[in-house]
Amino acid sequence: MKTLDVVNGPQNASAIILGCMRMPALSVDEAEKMIHTAVELGVNFFDNATCYTEGEAETRFGDAFAQSGIRREDVVIQSKCGLCFERNEFDWTKDNIISSVDDSLRRMKTDYLDVLLLHRPDLIFEPEQVAEAFDILEKNGKVRYFGVSNVPTLQIELLRKYVRQPLVFNQLQFSIEQSQLIDQALYVNNLTTDRSIDRDNGTLDYCRLNDITIQAWSPLQRGFFGGCFVDDPDFPELNAALQEIGDKYGVPKTAVAIAWILRHPAKMQAIAGTMNPDHLKDICAAAKVDLTHHEWYQLYLASGKKLP
Ligand SMILES: NC(=O)c1ccc[n+]([C@@H]2O[C@H](COP(=O)([O-])OP(=O)(O)OC[C@H]3O[C@@H](n4cnc5c(N)ncnc54)[C@H](OP(=O)(O)O)[C@@H]3O)[C@@H](O)[C@H]2O)c1
Repeated sequence: MKTLDVVNGPQNASAIILGCMRMPALSVDEAEKMIHTAVELGVNFFDNATCYTEGEAETRFGDAFAQSGIRREDVVIQSKCGLCFERNEFDWTKDNIISSVDDSLRRMKTDYLDVLLLHRPDLIFEPEQVAEAFDILEKNGKVRYFGVSNVPTLQIELLRKYVRQPLVFNQLQFSIEQSQLIDQALYVNNLTTDRSIDRDNGTLDYCRLNDITIQAWSPLQRGFFGGCFVDDPDFPELNAALQEIGDKYGVPKTAVAIAWILRHPAKMQAIAGTMNPDHLKDICAAAKVDLTHHEWYQLYLASGKKLP
């Protein structure tokens, strides 16, 4: 497994994270097997969120991890707060952040989160309240590192003006198929294509400039939860390129798709959401692949993008 010493954050963190959003589909015993498979493959980082099946994903992870025998200090447990679907609102108020963390700790049967991310932006957030909440959570030892998810440049800047702790991660959607994070740079100032639209105010480069590690969510999904693009007949060129490069390295196509993300010099992590141990083994074979510069472009273009 490739690992990262995250700037201001966890050291020796696996480049591939197991996303636990789909864990409620497993029994506790199956979830324990999934966690063991991950750890055996070198995955030591687990992503969760208070909103995943209304806390069920955290509960299933907590129950499975408790019976796994794996030492707490050997893994990085991350959760996210702020999406309150049951109330139809996003909430970054101090009280909600603190009570969400307490709920996550109780459900995951742990005393601390290694990482807390603020999920999507609360449209009326007050950075002073976030700062107070982070100070309290850090002081009482409930959270070690802080970050955000799906948050663009200026809102991160606004947070950073008030929050004392470094914002270590930004979790964003990114894959060969959903590559908006990088497309705009190629088409800058080009009126003939929507790809030239800067939709996030240069979030990728901002994160690189400020030592914020990007975690790529849904690295194999087409669109927004549209199903896996690997083996999807709607992507013949992409699948042919994944196959050709996979054959060269002796790895499955999903591994090549993940290796494409890990090859980016921003040194991102990729969050795999599969709950199938064999699929996770395939994905982790990405660690064996160092794509050449040319292969990276070959895959990018096979996904339907064109050079200007
Ligand atoms: N921050 C956010 O807003 C946000 C949003 C969404 C997700 N996330 C995080 O990202 C994680 C991953 O999300 P995800 O599950 O949507 O995306 P994903 O990991 O890209 O999975 C997409 C699909 O790929 C399939 N797949 C994986 N390996 C395969 C293989 N070898 N052969 C065939 N199909 C394969 C999976 O099917 P199988 O399940 O059958 O393997 C799954 O349906 C989540 O668990 C969560 O932690 C974060």
